[in-house]
Amino acid sequence: MDILKVREGIPVTRNLIYLNTGWSGPSPSRVTQRIKEQLDYEMERGPATLDSLPRSRAIHEELAKGVAGLMNAPEESVALTQSTTHGLVMVVNGLDWFPGDEIVTCSLEHPSVMLPSLMLQKTHGVKVRIADIDPKDDKSIILAKIEALLSPRTRLVYLSHIQFSCGLRLPAKEVAELAHRRGAFLLLDGAQCGGQIALDMKGWGCDFYAIPGHKWLLGPDGTGALYIRKELIPDITPRYPAHGAVEEYDIRTGALKLNLEHPRKFRLSTTSVALEAGMAEAIAFQREQGFQEIEARGMALAARLRDGLRSIPGVTITSPEGGETGSALVTFALAGREPRQVVELLWARGIAARQVPTPPAVRLCTAFYNTEEEVAQVCAVLGEMGR
Ligand SMILES: Cc1ncc(COP(=O)(O)O)c(C=O)c1O
Repeated sequence: MDILKVREGIPVTRNLIYLNTGWSGPSPSRVTQRIKEQLDYEMERGPATLDSLPRSRAIHEELAKGVAGLMNAPEESVALTQSTTHGLVMVVNGLDWFPGDEIVTCSLEHPSVMLPSLMLQKTHGVKVRIADIDPKDDKSIILAKIEALLSPRTRLVYLSHIQFSCGLRLPAKEVAELAHRRGAFLLLDGAQCGGQIALDMKGWGCDFYAIPGHKWLLGPDGTGALYIRKELIPDITPRYPAHGAVEEYDIRTGALKLNLEHPRKFRLSTTSVALEAGMAEAIAFQREQGFQEIEARGMALAARLRDGLRSIPGVTITSPEGGETGSALVTFALAGREPRQVVELLWARGIAARQVPTPPAVRLCTAFYNTEEEVAQVCAVLGEMGR
């Protein structure tokens, strides 16, 4: 990877040290350019003409193909969405639930996992069972804690693949095996994964997996994708049915011939072609760098950051120490200072970070476009604060 060339294409790198990719990633100029080109085309040539409609369809297909490549998934298993949460809720609300059904999740979870589950508990009498996982737990402990909560009533195991608040990476393949052994589905929230780690739907064997376009993929807000294992598409009812949800219908008889199997059944009616073009371009940019290379570089920078943090008096690293449960989200507490205050002090020095709640800490994301020098600089600033 030619890191200087990569950074030349990402303007924010000239202005600040951006370590908040896990919230929203800075777009490369070619992504923004692609969005503008489509908007300009629509403005000048019309958004719905016999020329522009095939162009829009081609962009949509380019994106679906791009997502399939990114996720190592068959194209017919990919639905385009507008965010991670959109995809997650499509699955959760699309399943049929009965009182006493159970969802297994964990104590570190993002609201996008916890809230749809708790809503079902309130509205459908579903029981939410919460595994008490510690960011420092190893793989076997994590699996044992999840397994202990599985029962014949478990319908869904619903977890973030990488936890937003401490960077803990869960073992996707093994959790899928556990869930399937008990007859449950696995829905993974991949908000922190698409564009950070090499995705492998075929290898991991999970049932549903949602990603955003706007975080580690460096695409625009308002984009995302959902993987659904092909055989399960008929099991998910589109709760916002638009024209893709049916093959045909008759308003006199009310007869509906449902589209059961094609993911277009989940499409809302009008979506932004310009944003889809931006996400397609963001995926192309990543594909050119290499998905494995991107993951390896983010992990190497995170390891370097943890090394630097360990040598700063008063710093406690709250994320995993690397290895198979580690990721490029590094979280830490600094003795005598609130996380919010550390974030503000970093920002005053041109470093973008965020605070996180569980456990309370500062989060730094090392994306592939960050550098060793940036990591050293952050550690130097934190060292001054720690003194
Ligand atoms: C684990 C996790 N899930 C869901 C979300 C929400 O993502 P989106 O805005 O794409 O719905 C986030 C955002 O930070 C996240 O970290």
